[in-house]
Amino acid sequence: MPAILDDISAEILDLKKQLGATILAHYYQDGEIQALADVTGDSLKLAREATKVDSPVIVFCGVLFMAETAKMLNPSKTVLLPDLQAGCSLVDACPAEKLARYQEMLRINGRKFQTVTYINSSAKVKALSDWVVTSGNALEVVKEKVPAGYEILFVPDKHLGRYLQEVTGREMILWDGSCMVHEIFSVHDLLKQKKEHPKAKTIAHPECPKNILELADFVGGTEAMVKHVGTYKEPTEFLVATEANMMWEMQRKHPQHTYLGVPGITCACNKCPHMARNTLEKVRDCMKNRSPEITWQPEFDRAKEVLARSLLNPPLSAPVHPHGD
Ligand code: 13P
Ligand code: SF4
Repeated sequence: MPAILDDISAEILDLKKQLGATILAHYYQDGEIQALADVTGDSLKLAREATKVDSPVIVFCGVLFMAETAKMLNPSKTVLLPDLQAGCSLVDACPAEKLARYQEMLRINGRKFQTVTYINSSAKVKALSDWVVTSGNALEVVKEKVPAGYEILFVPDKHLGRYLQEVTGREMILWDGSCMVHEIFSVHDLLKQKKEHPKAKTIAHPECPKNILELADFVGGTEAMVKHVGTYKEPTEFLVATEANMMWEMQRKHPQHTYLGVPGITCACNKCPHMARNTLEKVRDCMKNRSPEITWQPEFDRAKEVLARSLLNPPLSAPVHPHGD
């Protein structure tokens, strides 16, 4: 690590003490940020861990919808996000007004449905939903929580929705959204890698399109992928079809293996440009300035209830009746 980054890291650790802050970082953050975090994880783990934080300040190294989730589940904490512009292509694909109009059209047409929403969505969209899922609990929610007899409107990730539909056999209406990173893995390059590494196992996130999932030996959410590689005791090569920084955690936890990122069609590494907006400098500056801060928005009240009963056990608040009941 260059000396200048060492200095910044030291400053961050100092500020952490002064502020009484806990740093949460998603696995898609650069390794140097993950190395400073108190907790690293996927969306589900970070949402749950955020509820256990006892310090007054949470520094959330991830994207906006994740920091908003942490705030909703911890209204009394100060939640800082190093760069407020750290968004997500899935959030952009599903404006709340458009979803509300679509739901209304389904109701007018007499369709009996519940809305299951990927956590990669705005708070306004969460507030219009019956359930919020992550890649870590989507199967469980679809199988166990959505009552039989209801169609499922799944938003905003069409690839995750299609995968859930296939695995659970539940009928779904799929929203036309996708993750700009997982959408563009190159089938051509993956086939070439498989030829060059005939013994390698391919692991893929369900945000990938069907043509990539069909070539995978294992499909699973972020935390499930880390667990899966841990089941191999002998050194093994893995072709990894998910955000490239994930390999940092895999390497840290299971260093006996070799990890090769599957390239994208436009870029060799497949890093999320939104996650990459957070840098060590911005982590330091948000702690120095206590800004940017996630402030409470009116839609958080309803979204918080949906989040809590979908992700937490037991939920923080009394259950509300899902839409469509
Ligand atoms: P998970 O952490 O829930 O697997 O989400 C993956 C992702 O794309 C985060 O933005
Ligand atoms: Fe959104 Fe994809 Fe980036 Fe995750 S990796 S934040 S889903 S654009």
